[in-house]
Amino acid sequence: MAQEVTTLDAELEAVRAEALRRLDEVTSVDEAAAWERDYLGGKGRVTQLLRGLGSLPAEQRPAAGRATQALKAELTEKYDDVGARLKAAARQQALAEDAIDVTLPGRPVIIGAAHPISQMIDELIEIFALLGFQAVFGPEVETGHYNFDLLNIPSDHPARDVWDTIIVESPNEEIVLRTHTSPMQARTMERMQPPVRVIVPGRSFRFEAQDASHEWMFTQLEGLAVDENITMADLKGTLRELARQLFGPTRRVRFRCDFFPFVEPGVDFAVDCAICDGQGCRVCKHTGWLEMGGAGMVHPNVLKGVGYDPEKYTGFAFGLGIERIIMMKTGVSDLRAFAGNDVRFLRQFARPIV
Ligand code: DAH
Repeated sequence: MAQEVTTLDAELEAVRAEALRRLDEVTSVDEAAAWERDYLGGKGRVTQLLRGLGSLPAEQRPAAGRATQALKAELTEKYDDVGARLKAAARQQALAEDAIDVTLPGRPVIIGAAHPISQMIDELIEIFALLGFQAVFGPEVETGHYNFDLLNIPSDHPARDVWDTIIVESPNEEIVLRTHTSPMQARTMERMQPPVRVIVPGRSFRFEAQDASHEWMFTQLEGLAVDENITMADLKGTLRELARQLFGPTRRVRFRCDFFPFVEPGVDFAVDCAICDGQGCRVCKHTGWLEMGGAGMVHPNVLKGVGYDPEKYTGFAFGLGIERIIMMKTGVSDLRAFAGNDVRFLRQFARPIV
């Protein structure tokens, strides 16, 4: 009998010694889990010893049970210590690996910028705000009624020809991509009574073969002022002020007769070249003048078309190309660059956003 207890004591001691030695060698959470399975798990050595107690003679069981339970408690405690130590070490390592190196340079943040056309529209809106003009915006898909009829361009006028106009398929109504911003003249006058002072920045479209000075899509700025007693002098003063705000206080403007169906009289207007001060250079093609756009006194038919009394009211209108103004100011020589989406081109116009 005593022999059996001694044998059990020796076995407990052997298991204890082996378990502690192996626990000493454990260096990872995985190894610790394997150790726990080998000694304390359901099929582990200590658990098996506890199960074996049942086969001992009854009088030996209490002492053997206490000794085995004591071993289990001791190993469990040691195992918990090792587990805590390993977890702390793993955490330390993770912290060290994830540490932020505050001396590293930051990643560059790429900030977008307004497109040169948008910038120029903003500039024009500001200039015209000072002159009392309000900016309005209209549809890019228009009816023939607004794009042509109300602008005194009858159905048989050559400008209505399909070679100029991009037609949107429609069985019942003439629907086009607006060929200019002028349709907003009629839309605005239909909505309000004089005094009218508006500008209309926006895209226009024409069926064009593209080259350095032609694009099927371009941006215009329309202007319209209608009131009692508006004269050609008001038109000239307004466009002169525009030229000076854009190109400098000594600029001169030139008006020459031209024809547009919706104005009478009609003119084209130019500004003397700011680069050579009107002397003649490559940019102004040695003429000393840069063409800016068309203008004139609103045709009585246009006023009548929107229900205004042409005996009472007069007005002026003008239209200019926004890309052209940017080209005149910056020396960009190819119209296609604006819609070309080349960031290297666009970046040159980037201004800090304020
Ligand atoms: N709509 C004309 C065009 O696109 C430009 C224009 C000329 C507008 C004379 C006007 C104007 O308002 O009075 O060619």
